Amino acid sequence: MSGRERNVMHYGGDYNPEQWGPEVWREDAALMREAGVTMITLGVFSWSRLEPRESEYELGWLAGLIDLLWGHGIAVDLATGTASPPAWFVRKYPHALPVTAEGVRLEFGSRQHYCPSSPEFRAATARLAREMAKRFGSHPAVRLWHISNEYGDHVTECFCPVSAEDFRRWLAAKYETVEALNFTWGTEFWSQRYGSFAEVEPPRALPGPGNPTQQLDWRRFSSDALLACYRTERAELPAGVPVTTNFMSMMRDLDYWKWAAEEDIVSDDAYPDPADPLAHITAAMNYDLMRSLRGGQPWLLLEQAPSAVSWRSVNVPKTDAQYRLGSLQAIARGADGVMHFQWRASKAGAEKWHSAMLPHGGTASRGWARTVAFGRELTRLAEVTGARSTADVAIILDWDSWWALELEEHPSQLLRWRELVRAWYGPLWEKNITIDFVPVTADLTGYRVVLAPNLYLTTTALAARLESYVAGGGHLVTGFFSGLVDEHDHVHPGGYPGVLRDLLGLRIDEFWPLPASEPVQVELAGSVYTGTLWRDWIVPGTCEVLGSYASGVLRGRPAVTRNASGSGAAWYVSTLLSHSGLADLFGRVLAEAGVPSGPAGAEITRRGDYTFVLNHGDEPVAVPLPGFDLLTGAAYTGVVGPGDAAVIRAGHADE
Ligand code: GAL
Repeated sequence: MSGRERNVMHYGGDYNPEQWGPEVWREDAALMREAGVTMITLGVFSWSRLEPRESEYELGWLAGLIDLLWGHGIAVDLATGTASPPAWFVRKYPHALPVTAEGVRLEFGSRQHYCPSSPEFRAATARLAREMAKRFGSHPAVRLWHISNEYGDHVTECFCPVSAEDFRRWLAAKYETVEALNFTWGTEFWSQRYGSFAEVEPPRALPGPGNPTQQLDWRRFSSDALLACYRTERAELPAGVPVTTNFMSMMRDLDYWKWAAEEDIVSDDAYPDPADPLAHITAAMNYDLMRSLRGGQPWLLLEQAPSAVSWRSVNVPKTDAQYRLGSLQAIARGADGVMHFQWRASKAGAEKWHSAMLPHGGTASRGWARTVAFGRELTRLAEVTGARSTADVAIILDWDSWWALELEEHPSQLLRWRELVRAWYGPLWEKNITIDFVPVTADLTGYRVVLAPNLYLTTTALAARLESYVAGGGHLVTGFFSGLVDEHDHVHPGGYPGVLRDLLGLRIDEFWPLPASEPVQVELAGSVYTGTLWRDWIVPGTCEVLGSYASGVLRGRPAVTRNASGSGAAWYVSTLLSHSGLADLFGRVLAEAGVPSGPAGAEITRRGDYTFVLNHGDEPVAVPLPGFDLLTGAAYTGVVGPGDAAVIRAGHADE
């Protein structure tokens, strides 16, 4: 992939061949070719067929199928097959089944029923991965290794005794002495002191609020435990073929910065809800994250639904325009392929009502016509592969801070990082500002604006880096409840907002969170906007007050501030401003930082020499640009109709 496979914009999906016989495989291979499929994901749920009895491997049927597909010119994204352990495995190793915080052992009969720390599970997956690698590692069809499937989809943590032991090992490696653990976890509180590591358990169901640092470490450990499963399998795969595991968009429980560093290519499974009229904005945000996880390297949309899913309470299908724009949107934001769950609709099982590239109605269906049409259209975008985007604006995403923010017993339990970032992303999306997500360790100097909708956990090292970023001319915008605790969830001394006090040029005397049903008015640059979730009693220092509360007990007090420092500025927003309030504020910040907004009315993104214009609205949109539209194969007209798109190669119109 990436590099090796320039000029193939991949198209395809998951194929679950064990649900069908060889006759159907042959029909499928021919139909895949008709649809322009370039790559198929195979073997994701094949374990019980690949290893029907312990250590007895039957890979011949899969070899035949891979040959068949390759004979039709179709490459394979080969799963290691370890996402759903067979019945014989769980009966022989019942302690490998996962256990919930309440002590319930989850039974066989769905999928992902494994304890991430189970040595038997890890050993069995390593053996299967090894067999797969031995048999298929040098097959020319195998272009990508797909380890397991959606780590953390159903089971993100396990509370069994084996996990507890693994947690203790993880803690001992981190703290070395139990005294260090006691200090860091603040165990003098409520008499929680431990005499030895052996006394420590996972944060199981508890009578009251748990120890926050223990819970934060538990989140870190649980992400690492699954990552260890990934590493165990990865170690068995041959060098040369790129390796991925499919992510689940902006997922809370896994620290994807750490994960992506161990992949060759990032891949994502994206399921925007067709019933949500704003789902494409959330999808854009998720795709920006996928592009960012390996520093702008092209990624793969490895799963999306061709139409409806089967797991929401009401599963609304996609319109043709939603499908097409959603697919092009992933490419616009860095994907080098559009793949689906799944190729052929299942006849039986939990997902039989999920849409597929080849629906139950077969080739007579509208769904099939769409599959063929989009496959053709995608070939026109082959030259876009490998092209990269650049951004002036970054958003800091730190899983440690996200996890810490959502712990119990905070001034408000209503704060959800993903909702905060989504609220900030919306107005920027509307202005067609390209956003990179960055980890706290990133070099920020290339960005004119850095946004941190929330940075509850801010280390002193990060605060120092933010200070030099601003002093060097950067614009930092940060939201409420930021700067407050260190990496152990200990409050920074000296008052709020902790290590961001000097940078923001203010003091917060007291947090004044808002009940869910109680918005507040904020006056900002002559307009009045609504604020929700939060307020602070701000005592301004060196900062300039840009906006003030216009209602409630804090009426007249500062709500939005700006503190000049060096040649940059640090902006602070103490409430969740409404969409229009944020649009107004960000407009000011961007103007001051010299970041141009794109034309509004359509989603417009740049990827290398290509400009994507996606019109999600009901009216035609004029976006005048000289160039050639890859989708129509003709000079770009300058107007994109409702539900339509253009992919414009810069340069002369008549190529
Ligand atoms: C994904 C999963 C697939 C399939 C799909 C249905 O989360 O990886 O195996 O279940 O959802 O939407």
